[in-house]
Amino acid sequence: MAETGNTRETWGSRGAFVLAAIGSAVGLGNLWGFPYKLFIGGGGAFLIPYLIAMVIIGLPLLIMEFSVGHWAQNSPPGAFGRIARRYRFVGWWLVALAFVIITYYVVILSYSLVMLWDSILGLFGKALPWASGTGAEGVNAAKNAFFGKMLGYEESLSIGTLRAPIVTGMLASWALIYFCLFKGVKWVSKVVLITVPLPWLMLFILAVRGITLEGATTGLSFYLNPDWSKLAEADTWRLAFTQVFFSLSLGFAVMLSYASFLHRKSDLNNNAAIIGLGDLATSFIAGIAVFATLGNMAMLINVPVEKAVAAGPGLAFAVYPYALAQLPAGAAIFSLLFFIALLTLGIDSAFSIVEAVQATVNDNRPASWRKSRTLPVVCLTGAVISLIYTAGKGGLNWLGIVDDQINGPFGILSVALAECLVIGYAWKGKFLSHMRDHANERSDWSLGIWWDIIIRYIAPFCLLGLICWSISDFVADKIWLSPEFLKNIGDSTVRKGFAWDTKIVTLCGYIFFILIPAFFFIIRRSKTTEKNSEDTGDINTGPLWPIFSLPPLAACLGLIWGLFRLSRIKAELIAAKTASAVSTIAGSEPAFEVQQLGNAAYVVLAVAFLIIFGGLTWCFWRALQAAGKGDTEIID
Ligand code: PHE
Repeated sequence: MAETGNTRETWGSRGAFVLAAIGSAVGLGNLWGFPYKLFIGGGGAFLIPYLIAMVIIGLPLLIMEFSVGHWAQNSPPGAFGRIARRYRFVGWWLVALAFVIITYYVVILSYSLVMLWDSILGLFGKALPWASGTGAEGVNAAKNAFFGKMLGYEESLSIGTLRAPIVTGMLASWALIYFCLFKGVKWVSKVVLITVPLPWLMLFILAVRGITLEGATTGLSFYLNPDWSKLAEADTWRLAFTQVFFSLSLGFAVMLSYASFLHRKSDLNNNAAIIGLGDLATSFIAGIAVFATLGNMAMLINVPVEKAVAAGPGLAFAVYPYALAQLPAGAAIFSLLFFIALLTLGIDSAFSIVEAVQATVNDNRPASWRKSRTLPVVCLTGAVISLIYTAGKGGLNWLGIVDDQINGPFGILSVALAECLVIGYAWKGKFLSHMRDHANERSDWSLGIWWDIIIRYIAPFCLLGLICWSISDFVADKIWLSPEFLKNIGDSTVRKGFAWDTKIVTLCGYIFFILIPAFFFIIRRSKTTEKNSEDTGDINTGPLWPIFSLPPLAACLGLIWGLFRLSRIKAELIAAKTASAVSTIAGSEPAFEVQQLGNAAYVVLAVAFLIIFGGLTWCFWRALQAAGKGDTEIID
């Protein structure tokens, strides 16, 4: 589908591109990932780094990917190869990470499909599997319906038998992706006319329904009231930053590929701002829908909101469906709306990834390989790999670990760092000004020098800091202490079991993910010919060492810092043992307490609304102004 040179396809119009890019950005990440990560990150405390990351890093980097894709008119390896041949591997690295995502993303889509089917049956009078009880028991029953009956889940990494409904859903999702893509990007621009507005409508209905429920303010107060202590934890920041990347489809080759199909004269800056703010708005509204409803559920089962839900990916598939089922009327209808929203949100993100992967394969395929074969081969390969996550017992845990690797120090954080370094410093720094001019020449408003500062200094600095901090957190865990010591100290942490296995697999994952760029780098070296390269000569390209040495350097610093923290933990354990301060905090379970929105919550709410609505109004105003002057392309 993707072609180089004059025959490359284009989106029909500016609107088609914006919708497709919003379709890619707005996905399961908004309705599944955002609420559960926010829950882990302490409610409102998560919103603060999230908003910061979105405005300071997310939007500028989105503009960066658009500019490079649009300038190069090529898939990522070609685009980076055009900067200089030696950077080609960065493009492959982006595509490789995108491919890893799609293999598990379809499995989450498959959960939505299966539960959508259950909701349809529910409409015809069959009992909803997640609605078979009330109170705390009901919640457990709902969890059991998802984890037990549907997934055959176990806290282990063993691979059980494949779950037939999930496999069917997974294959159906791949088939859907295939049918959305096989006719090219013009067809995609028609599909997104449905898959973008429909989930918004559903979300809006669910949010309004949520707010009108009793107990909703308590849920919202959890959503908006910051738990400040969580801001001191690396995980809150890591989750917030990586969620911004994941949610904007940034650093995964997708936005770069989509922009490569844009008309030559199309705006870039304003489009990026509209897409970013649209994505932020969707997550924000999804949060309102989910937490308002959870507030009501917490009230019904009489526990505090933070106790009502086990943090994790089960939020969207176990607890929230249960909460919907408790609604006084129309449980099946609201469940149906929710799963349609999930499916339509997810499908356009899923095919955007596949599109990026297949465009890359097409641009680089051997001459003997027919173009029409690429898409089926990509889909089939993906489907075979997806099977792992559809397995019973540990399937979901593997999904969780891989998702964590993607969002981890050697996944998105490193590849985004490499992108910033290449684009910020290539051609002795001239490439970035070239990109700024490229974007400014055709956009409704212009980037200033601040953009260069972000790409060159602020973003790399934040990414390096996060790599360092995440590794330090990984190391500073008492699970690494020797079993004898732990036994001696009377600590119940056992080194055998799920937590330990996960830790070791995560470590192996880090090594594997570090090897990905190295692999593509070595492959590239062995190739002698290069198509589509405008290599300006190696002296002009800037040194390669920062890309390869900065992330490991940050990781080493993190390791040292982590070891230092670990020794402190050890000392604290010894001190606690000598003081033999055995705390027996027993007592009754905390109950539900009505919470009002505090001042901080109102401030967070006001800032979020200002950024979203103020920002969008400004963007549309600039677009109208530019259209009035006739300097914006709308046609094909
Ligand atoms: N942005 C999508 C979401 O929020 C996921 C995605 C990630 C899509 C990476 C493309 C690339 O669900």
